Amino acid sequence: MAEARPTVAFLGTGIMGAPMARNVAGAGLPVRAWNRTREKAEPLAEHGVEIADSAPAAVEGADVVVTMLTDGDAVGNVMTEGGALAAMGDDAVWAQMSTVGVAAADRLAGLAAERGVPFVDAPVLGTRQPAEQGQLVVLAGGPAEAVEHCRPVFDAVGSKTLELGEAGKPTRLKLVLNTWVVGVVENVAEAIALAGALDLDPRLFFQGIEGGALDCGYAHLKGELMIEESFEPAAFPLRLALKDAALVLDAAGQAGLELPLVEAVRAQFERATREGHGDEDLAAAYEAIAAARR
Ligand SMILES: NC(=O)c1ccc[n+]([C@@H]2O[C@H](COP(=O)([O-])OP(=O)(O)OC[C@H]3O[C@@H](n4cnc5c(N)ncnc54)[C@H](OP(=O)(O)O)[C@@H]3O)[C@@H](O)[C@H]2O)c1
Repeated sequence: MAEARPTVAFLGTGIMGAPMARNVAGAGLPVRAWNRTREKAEPLAEHGVEIADSAPAAVEGADVVVTMLTDGDAVGNVMTEGGALAAMGDDAVWAQMSTVGVAAADRLAGLAAERGVPFVDAPVLGTRQPAEQGQLVVLAGGPAEAVEHCRPVFDAVGSKTLELGEAGKPTRLKLVLNTWVVGVVENVAEAIALAGALDLDPRLFFQGIEGGALDCGYAHLKGELMIEESFEPAAFPLRLALKDAALVLDAAGQAGLELPLVEAVRAQFERATREGHGDEDLAAAYEAIAAARR
C-alpha cells in the first residue's frame, strides 16, 4: 500500500487546506485539489497543483485523500452525496484532517469502514502561519499501515506527527488542545479589557508576564491583535472557534463532565459572532467585551 510519492487529493482549500496542499506539492508529491468555490483553489495551480472540477474527479486514482473542510457535516456531505468516497480507489487511504469532534469522527470512520477504505483520524494543531510554513502538529491515529501511507503528507504539512494509536484519539486530543486555545484567548481578552477599563496601558500586561512562568506566546500573538483591533485576515475565524467550543462541550457532556469556563467562552464567542465578527480572527472575541462597555 505505502507509496514513496503518493498522489494526494485535497478536498477543501480554505485557510488551512490551501497552504497544506501547496506544501505537499512543494515536497514533490503529485497533488490534485478540489474546492466548492473553485476560484479559491485556482491560485494553487501556480504551485503545480492540478485543480479538479469535482470531488470525485480529484480523488479518482489518488493514494491519499485529505479532507480539510469546515465540520463533520461538510465532510460527510462531500464524501457521500458529493460522491468522493465512492470514487476512491480500493487501496487509497482517507486522511480526515478537519476538526469535526468525537461523534462526527466516529460517524466518518463508519462511512469509511462501510466503503472498505482505511480511515486515518488526523486533525492538526496550528493555524494559518504554521500551515503556510509546514509547521503544523499532526495528531494521527488509525491502522498503522494506513498512517505510514500518509506519512509523506504529514511530513510535508507538519513539524511533527504525534501517533496516538487508534482513530478517535487524535480528535479527542484536538478537543483537549482547543479547550486550552479558546480559554487562553478569552482570558487575554478579559485581561486587556480590564487593563483598559482601569486606565492602564494594556501592554503592561505583557510586560508583567514576559519571560516568566506565566508567559505564553499565543497570548502575545492574539493580545496584540486585540490592542490593535486588527482582526482580518483571520488566521482562525471566530466562527470555527465557536464550533470547536461546542464540540468540546458535546464531548465533555458525553463523558459526564461540566466545563463552566468553556460554557462561558462559548457564550462570549456566540455574542461576538452575532455582532458580526464570525469571519474575523478569534481575537475578535475581545469585541464582545469591549462592545458591552460602550
Ligand atoms: N484556521 C485554523 O486556524 C485552523 C486550525 C486547525 C484546524 N482547523 C480546522 O480545519 C478545518 C478547515 O479550517 P479552515 O480554517 O481552512 O476553514 P475555511 O477557510 O473556512 O475553509 C473551509 C472549507 O470547507 C469548505 N466547505 C464548507 N462547507 C462545505 C460544504 N457543505 N461542502 C463543501 N465544502 C464546504 C469551504 O468551501 P468554500 O471555499 O466553497 O466555502 C472551504 O474549502 C476546520 O475543521 C477547522 O476547524 C482550522
